[in-house]
Amino acid sequence: MPGAKILKTMSSATCNGDEHSLKNWQPQWHIDKLRIGNFVCIGAESIILLGGNNTHRNDWFSNYPFMEHIVDSYQSKGDTVIEDGVWIGMRSMILPGIRLGEGCVIAAGSVVVKDVPPYTIVGGNPAKPIKTRFPENIIKELLKLKIYDLPEQDVEKLQKQLCASDIQALKQAVKQLRTQTPSSKLSN
Ligand SMILES: CC(C)(COP(=O)(O)OP(=O)(O)OC[C@H]1O[C@@H](n2cnc3c(N)ncnc32)[C@H](O)[C@@H]1OP(=O)(O)O)[C@@H](O)C(=O)NCCC(=O)NCCS
Repeated sequence: MPGAKILKTMSSATCNGDEHSLKNWQPQWHIDKLRIGNFVCIGAESIILLGGNNTHRNDWFSNYPFMEHIVDSYQSKGDTVIEDGVWIGMRSMILPGIRLGEGCVIAAGSVVVKDVPPYTIVGGNPAKPIKTRFPENIIKELLKLKIYDLPEQDVEKLQKQLCASDIQALKQAVKQLRTQTPSSKLSN
């Protein structure tokens, strides 16, 4: 990687670990990001794991991250994205590079290894779909409304309709808001 070097103050394989890395390591590759949307709830003791394969190559005979081969040992899994309105249940683990779709729910204690579609509840290890929160046509309508693209104060104004399940009432309220707030990013 251009301009990036491992400082070889300690080169032995026995010297890996946070104490060494935090002082001597410069990123050798693109660092993945964690993107968290708005109105997201994350249960206590949940873990969002980043860092691709964490330099452990299971297609190599040894998955130990030897410093001499550390650059080749990294495989990115991309950014982790938690979209707006997601609820992550307590003690869940989200593996690297996962996208949690708008309004999805991660059941307590789940290990999420695949992307979760919007407004879907998943659970278990590995987490599998349990059910959707609403019928498919309602989910489509919700996504089309792009509620969370509204300015925060507008979302606050929608509390009455958001804390209910009447899609027509929500659509009407959003439409009204959009008329009042032309700057809103709503598309319908
Ligand atoms: C996911 C959750 C919201 C589902 O609640 P619910 O809609 O009332 O669903 P139910 O309890 O009726 O369960 C529905 C199914 O999901 C399963 N399920 C529920 N929780 C589960 C979990 N944590 N892991 C795996 N499966 C789970 C149930 O066994 C049931 O399966 P079945 O249909 O085969 O019998 C809830 O179980 C949960 O995990 N909430 C998170 C609580 C939490 O972490 N709170 C603290 C942070 S704020």
